[in-house]
Amino acid sequence: MTNQVANDSLGGASGRPNLFTPIALGPYTLPNRIVMAPLTRNRAGAGNVPSDLAVEYYRQRASAGLIFTEATQVSPQGVGYPNTPGIHSAAQVDAWRRVTDAVHDEGGRIFLQLWHVGRISHPSLQPEGALPVAPSAIKPEGDAVTFEGMQPFVAPRALETVEIPGIVAQYRNAAAKALSAGFDGVEIHAANGYLLDQFLRDGSNRRTDAYGGPIENRFRILREVTQAVIDIWGQDRVGVRLSPLNRFNSMSDSQPEATFRYAARELGAMGLAFLHVVETTTLDGSDPRRVDRAQIAKDFGGVYIANGGYDKARASEAVANGGSDLIAFGKPYIANPDLVERFVKDAPLNTPDPATFYGGDHRGYTDYPSLGSAKSSDAA
Ligand code: PHB
Repeated sequence: MTNQVANDSLGGASGRPNLFTPIALGPYTLPNRIVMAPLTRNRAGAGNVPSDLAVEYYRQRASAGLIFTEATQVSPQGVGYPNTPGIHSAAQVDAWRRVTDAVHDEGGRIFLQLWHVGRISHPSLQPEGALPVAPSAIKPEGDAVTFEGMQPFVAPRALETVEIPGIVAQYRNAAAKALSAGFDGVEIHAANGYLLDQFLRDGSNRRTDAYGGPIENRFRILREVTQAVIDIWGQDRVGVRLSPLNRFNSMSDSQPEATFRYAARELGAMGLAFLHVVETTTLDGSDPRRVDRAQIAKDFGGVYIANGGYDKARASEAVANGGSDLIAFGKPYIANPDLVERFVKDAPLNTPDPATFYGGDHRGYTDYPSLGSAKSSDAA
């Protein structure tokens, strides 16, 4: 088996990389191209503190080339769902330290995803019952997930121009806390209809100040946040996640190609460790339309991480011939802590159970079996 992996990692006769070819990412050498995508699991405890179970959950998945944590709030204002973790309090830092230690003990690498939900929240989740904040006072369609069940979204409060430095400071503070919690790097969540994406796309940004209007302005807050995070971490341990076509959370843009080619070029010029792209138009990937990967990867010019409904075959093709350096897997990582080993062996995958994706206990979280643990008595 060891020889098989070694041969595979050379990319076989083609000389092209495959999923098991090591790759440099900033100062790190990742042993494979298989990434655990950021996954909201809603199991944090009181005070939005990661639970003991989270330590075990991430430890189990440490053979990934790289782990992204679930989206993690930069501030109390950044909260949009029950039981999601933060990285703004001392208790949160202590809990995340246990996670990073566990992953490092197993030889893995873990980046924290920095998150502010903007308008995808509800007064019942906000400090003092305040309105959620956003670039513009445009209500998303649908319902917020609250402790009292689903409740209609409200129209958010448009941020004043003078408040933007305070938002940037939330990211700076959270980035510093992520560093002290022992993470290997951070990803800035600018995808899927949350705050920074709300600024980028013109369907949710109708501002007339320096943060709205042309893409140069709509990109400005992401540039300032990225620079603030780079000031803490260095450019080679910071990446950004974008979702140019994803309509989730009532998102739209009149010129997605121009908007996101600009963002990719500008982020590339900042020398980031990677660009991570949700390539699909919906979170479930049911619509076959996708981002033009070759173009956005070229515009960025650095390490490109693809995400969106990949299986092993499509991932292998994207890495060998499709211009992607790494592939982030979501649902397969929920159900297969040893996804790398299963791909190496072409072993069958466990099936994820959607009933336990969001919230609950260890069931559907830390109890998916690894190959070695499943029915080991039968194997004898
Ligand atoms: C979610 O909680 O549904 C969620 C969170 C972050 C994302 C996407 C979905 O990027």
